[in-house]
Amino acid sequence: MSKLEIQGLRKEFAGRRNHVAVNDLTFTVDEGELLVLLGSSGCGKTTTLRMVAGLEQASAGRISIGNKVVCDTTRRVDLSPNRRDVGMVFQSFALWPHMTVRRNIGYPLRARGLKQGFKEGWIDEAARMVDCTELLDRYPGQLSGGQQQRVAVARALVARPSLLLFDEPLSNLDARLRDQLRNEIHQLHQRVGFTGLYVTHDQSEALALGDRLAIMRAGQIEQLGRPREVYENPATEFVAEFIGMGNSISLYKTPSGWASKSGQLVGRVPDVSAETANLRVRQQAIRLGTIDSLAPGEMGVEGGTIADVEYGGASVDVVVKFVDGRSVSSRIPLTGEGEHRFELGSRTTVIFSARDAKLFPTSPAGSAGTGQPAHNDVAPEQKAGVS
Ligand SMILES: Nc1ncnc2c1ncn2[C@@H]1O[C@H](COP(=O)(O)OP(=O)(O)OP(=O)(O)O)[C@@H](O)[C@H]1O
Ligand SMILES: [Mg+2]
Repeated sequence: MSKLEIQGLRKEFAGRRNHVAVNDLTFTVDEGELLVLLGSSGCGKTTTLRMVAGLEQASAGRISIGNKVVCDTTRRVDLSPNRRDVGMVFQSFALWPHMTVRRNIGYPLRARGLKQGFKEGWIDEAARMVDCTELLDRYPGQLSGGQQQRVAVARALVARPSLLLFDEPLSNLDARLRDQLRNEIHQLHQRVGFTGLYVTHDQSEALALGDRLAIMRAGQIEQLGRPREVYENPATEFVAEFIGMGNSISLYKTPSGWASKSGQLVGRVPDVSAETANLRVRQQAIRLGTIDSLAPGEMGVEGGTIADVEYGGASVDVVVKFVDGRSVSSRIPLTGEGEHRFELGSRTTVIFSARDAKLFPTSPAGSAGTGQPAHNDVAPEQKAGVS
C-alpha cells in the first residue's frame, strides 16, 4: 500500500463554461490511512475519485501513488486506469451479471494479466477477507445487496492494489446492512491497513471510518482534520451544519450581550467581534426549561414557542419556533423518571451547554447585517448573565 498525493487538482467539464467541478485540490493520504471525502451532492467527490482512478482526465494538477506519478498535466503524464494499481468500489456494485462471483472477483487479475494471482489463490484470499467464500459459485442475481457489495470489495482488493477508492459503497443498502458493512470495512481497514480514499455524504459513516476527513464544498476542501477535531471544532458554519449542528439561531449584539429577535441570550458567550452571528447547536445538546434553571456553563435563548412534538421511543423530538421564523429542533431523551410534558404552543427557553454551541459571525464589527434588527428594535428584557 502506498501514499497518495494530490496537488492542484482541477476539473472543468467541456461545454460547461465557468463550471469548475473540482477546484485546486491539494491533499495527501498517508500510507495505510483511510481518508474520507464528505460533502453534499455535486460538490465534486466522484469527479475527484475518477481522476485518481484515471477514469476522468484532469484539467490541471498532479497525482502520485507511492513513488509513481500517475497524472501530471504539465508533463502530459496520464496513465490508463490499468496502470495505476488502484482498486475501486462503486455505489452501484457494478458486478457482471453473467459471471460467477469467482469470475467477477478475478476480473482485475485478467484485465491486468496477473497470472501469478490465479496461481497463488488471490481470489480465494480476497473472498475470505470479506467472508464470501461460500458465494464463489453463485451469480450476482442470486445474492442480496449486502453480499453483492462484499463481492465488489473483494474484487477491488484482489489485485493487491496500492490504493483503494470507495464511491458511496453503502448508500444503496438498507440501514441495517449499511451499519453492518460499514463495520466490516472498518475492521478490514484495521486488519489490512490499506490506503484508501472513501467518498460519502453521510456524516456518521465519515466519522466512523475516517482516520481523517475532508469536508468538501463546491470543488474545494473546507476543512480537513481528524473526525473528532472536525466534529468538535468545525472551522466554518458550513462545516458545522454538515457535521450535525443543524440548528441555527440568529443573534445580534446588544449593549449588554447577545439577543435573538425572540429574547435575550443568557449565559456567557465567546467573545467574537461581530454585530450579528449565527449560533449553531446540536439537536441532542438541547434541553427545554426556564431561564432560572440555567446551570453554570449553560446558555439559554428565551422566547421560543413549542411548535411540534414527535414521539421517538427513547426520546422526543421537540421543535421550538422563534419569532424570526427560525426553528430549533431538540431531541430530549425520555429517561422514564417522571413524565415529560411539552405542550404545543407553550413558551419555552432553549438551553444548552456553552461547550456544545459555536458562534459564527455573519457581519463584521461595526456593520449591522442586513435584515437584522437594530439594537433598540426589540428591547428584550435584560437579564443578568450566568457564567
Ligand atoms: N460528465 C460530466 N459532464 C459535465 N458535468 C459533470 C460531469 N460529471 C459531473 N459533472 C458535474 O460536476 C459537478 C461534480 O459532480 P460529482 O459527480 O463529482 O459530484 P458528487 O460530489 O460525486 O455528487 P453526488 O453526491 O451526487 O454523487 C456537478 O456539478 C456535476 O453536475
Ligand atoms: Mg458522486
